[in-house]
Amino acid sequence: MILVITSNSTFVKLDTVFRFSTMIAEEYNVRYILLRKLKSYPQWKDLSGEVVMDIGCGDGSESTKCILQLFPRVEKIIAIDKLRRVIAAAKRENAHPQIEYHVANITKKLTLMTWYNKISKIISFHCFEFVKLKEAFRNVFFLLKPGGEGVIVLMTSNAFRDAYDEMLENPMWRRYLKNRKGPSAGFANYVTHFECQALAQEVGLSVRFCQARENTACFENDQEIKGGVENFIRGYSRYLPEDLKQSFTEEYTSALYRRLVPGREGRICMRRTIIVILVRKPEAFIISHL
Ligand SMILES: C[S@@+](CC[C@H](N)C(=O)[O-])C[C@H]1O[C@@H](n2cnc3c(N)ncnc32)[C@H](O)[C@@H]1O
Repeated sequence: MILVITSNSTFVKLDTVFRFSTMIAEEYNVRYILLRKLKSYPQWKDLSGEVVMDIGCGDGSESTKCILQLFPRVEKIIAIDKLRRVIAAAKRENAHPQIEYHVANITKKLTLMTWYNKISKIISFHCFEFVKLKEAFRNVFFLLKPGGEGVIVLMTSNAFRDAYDEMLENPMWRRYLKNRKGPSAGFANYVTHFECQALAQEVGLSVRFCQARENTACFENDQEIKGGVENFIRGYSRYLPEDLKQSFTEEYTSALYRRLVPGREGRICMRRTIIVILVRKPEAFIISHL
């Protein structure tokens, strides 16, 4: 038994072959658990002969691999990402005869034309937090065959983001950082699951379920947290005067640590909220939704 992920305050014990011992392994398992649960829906049981699209696939090492592991009989996985270098890495490092990697942007319809109405299932992990949601849902509708379904998982808050919001409450930091977007700042989307559901419905998708879930991700050691802080702050430090960077880092670090919680085996963890939404393109629909 290697891993514990808390979800809705319940411990889930996993006995999988994925014996890496870092947050990456936990991330992988979050995807694995979710997709495995989906298999209880008749439409998701097997996906034999179906064309599945993985949106925001990254280098293919997590979501795409996980899809293939759980649905080995898919006809093909079209794995798309907006970044050319990411797709190049995916092709180099995670090539597989059932996976086609392509550069395409889920908010730019012109990059998606090849797959109009051709996709029977869409799976997307941790991409929709970064995009214009309504546009992305509109294109999910565009890509899916009538009756096709998509499961989309996005994170809407975590300790890094919440600590940053706390910093913005201080007028001193607010002065420099208000309305600034940082690359790793996370999420363009700070939506509730009600808002997320409404956006999907507005473009004509029906929503089979939409839930916000809290879960916990654990760090391996302090070094990993420090790396996370550096990464996060790097996105903002250019907006700060040189002489204030150090105190910003210290304040931010203590705001972050106040949000961390103890986990199993002495590890330090953070809570985060994810939204899981399962949408369906109706068999019959109004053409204006395209
Ligand atoms: C956090 S990573 C998630 C990668 C992978 N899905 C996983 O589960 O590990 C988010 C990925 O979404 C991609 N992405 C962000 N915006 C996108 C967009 N508009 N269209 C397609 N991909 C996008 C990023 O380039 C990045 O590779």
